[in-house]
Amino acid sequence: MFSIFKKKVLGNFSFLKTDLHNHILPGLDDGAKTISDSIELLQAMQQLGYQKIICTPHILGNIYPNTAATILPAFEAVKAVLVENGITLQIEVAAEYMADENFVEAVERKQPLLHFGEKKIILIEMSYLAPSPYLEQCVFQLILDGYQPILAHPERYNYYHKQPEKYELWKEKGCWLQLNALSLTGYYGRHVKQAAEKLLAAQFIDLLGTDLHHAQHLAALQYLCTTPYYKMLSLYPHFKNATI
Ligand SMILES: [Fe+2]
Repeated sequence: MFSIFKKKVLGNFSFLKTDLHNHILPGLDDGAKTISDSIELLQAMQQLGYQKIICTPHILGNIYPNTAATILPAFEAVKAVLVENGITLQIEVAAEYMADENFVEAVERKQPLLHFGEKKIILIEMSYLAPSPYLEQCVFQLILDGYQPILAHPERYNYYHKQPEKYELWKEKGCWLQLNALSLTGYYGRHVKQAAEKLLAAQFIDLLGTDLHHAQHLAALQYLCTTPYYKMLSLYPHFKNATI
């Protein structure tokens, strides 16, 4: 689908240093299935110039009912075979939380949450079908508790496309916004691509993530490095990836 052959590669993602959103841990969600998948994806991320990878498997109700007890062993298993596979990337682990009733309950009860970095960053997503009635409460409480919430791929919530004020609202509430790099390739459709362009133009985006699940995503990411969007991203002044 996204052939990089015959196209000039304009650069890699070394300007970001860190990817903070991906599904490369094996057997936990709709991302990597086996440890070999994980290794292949990590090797490719290294070639793309990343230095640090924060692994963020889904925690999503009964669909992906992950907890630290399922995530940490998968993380340790991958970490244990990095060197023998020539991977020098630093890897850390957190999660991508669905902003559902389970999550709001965990936040309200101050249960331990999987976060990363000195700022105690927590990655949160919403359903693509409808906004979460819990997100505002979660963001408010997380900030009070000293966490830094990030809303994953705001451009993918179609119900926000005609309500740009919602993006502004989350920014005002102190939530960082994380764009999926693949949105600019059209991978998720034309409207998502347009929303991504608008959010970047408005300088609303704080972080760029890959949301890498599998080889098709990887091919699209490599393709992105051959398009004019690559240059735009490499010059965008507001990405915080290198500082987290
Ligand atoms: Fe994700």
